[in-house]
Amino acid sequence: MKALKSRAAWNAADMQADASWIYTLDERAQRDLASAVRKARDPEKTLLDYRREDFDLGAARPVIAKAFAETQRGRGLALVRGLPRAELDQPGFELLTWAIGLHTGVARPQGKASHYLSAVRDEGTVYRSSGGRGYSSNAELDFHTDSADVVALTCYNAAASGGMSLITSSVYAYGRMREERPELADALHEHIHFSRQQEQAPDEGPSYPHPIFDVQDDALFSKWNRNRVQSAQKIVGVPPLTAKQREALEYFDALVRRPDLTYTMYLEPGDMQLVNSHTTLHSRTDFVDHDHPERKRLLYRLWLATPDGERLPESWRAAYRAVEPATVRGGIRGQQYDERRRAYEARQAATLGMILP
Ligand SMILES: [Fe+2]
Repeated sequence: MKALKSRAAWNAADMQADASWIYTLDERAQRDLASAVRKARDPEKTLLDYRREDFDLGAARPVIAKAFAETQRGRGLALVRGLPRAELDQPGFELLTWAIGLHTGVARPQGKASHYLSAVRDEGTVYRSSGGRGYSSNAELDFHTDSADVVALTCYNAAASGGMSLITSSVYAYGRMREERPELADALHEHIHFSRQQEQAPDEGPSYPHPIFDVQDDALFSKWNRNRVQSAQKIVGVPPLTAKQREALEYFDALVRRPDLTYTMYLEPGDMQLVNSHTTLHSRTDFVDHDHPERKRLLYRLWLATPDGERLPESWRAAYRAVEPATVRGGIRGQQYDERRRAYEARQAATLGMILP
């Protein structure tokens, strides 16, 4: 398979030796971003009211475009440094994150409340519960994929300690597993159930079947979330995992956290991490917050469907609702998906020449 020799198949040493996936905004680009936000900002508007043309990203635009392209045709991981954190207050930084999204994709809803932008911070959520989500806890997270093609994470405040960002190439991990335990690699192509963590839309069930790996057009796609697979095992009617599937999942989960596979980085205020969910897995270490409320760890997370998204395997349809290239797909539609949200998606899809399924 070509994918196993692509730039998306990397280990920790490869990423340390190569800085081409790190993009730094120069002073002019930083100034352009800050002024774009100041000009467009309107306290009467909600995020969904803004249009792409409201924000002129200026010199930052080509840099951000290259970083997004890196997620699709390069390493699957990109870092943009130098968002103007010091020039903007918290709502301004949030709006900047949204503005970057307006230029690069159609934001996808992220949970029960059908919200398009998550504030990633410790809200005391219990990660390991049937409705648990990691982003609102301070827990160490399992390696997992999010439910959208691209995940953008902008850092406003870092933690007092901990909260390191961990990324592993699922493509490289698959190659290793093929070499070490081919029979278990085969088992990862079987469909197992993922829980929707009680966030399902009215037309969705509590879980859906999905493989950990599948192939489409000679590219390898991966989806993994231990928490959701374990939760699904408690749902009535979900087939129990076979002994071989359990062994395969344990082996894979241990493999992806090996230090020689995992690239570790510390996101600084003003950094933006971009990942391709289909070719990377991510995690973060637990963290201790600052005491002062204004200094507490805070990142903004966007899930995006992008115009250059590849065709997904047919097995992705249950989770993503569509698999065709350039479609508005993925996300967690949730229970507040209304006309306003639909109108935003239709307008933004038209702006970017994407197809709304
Ligand atoms: Fe995540």
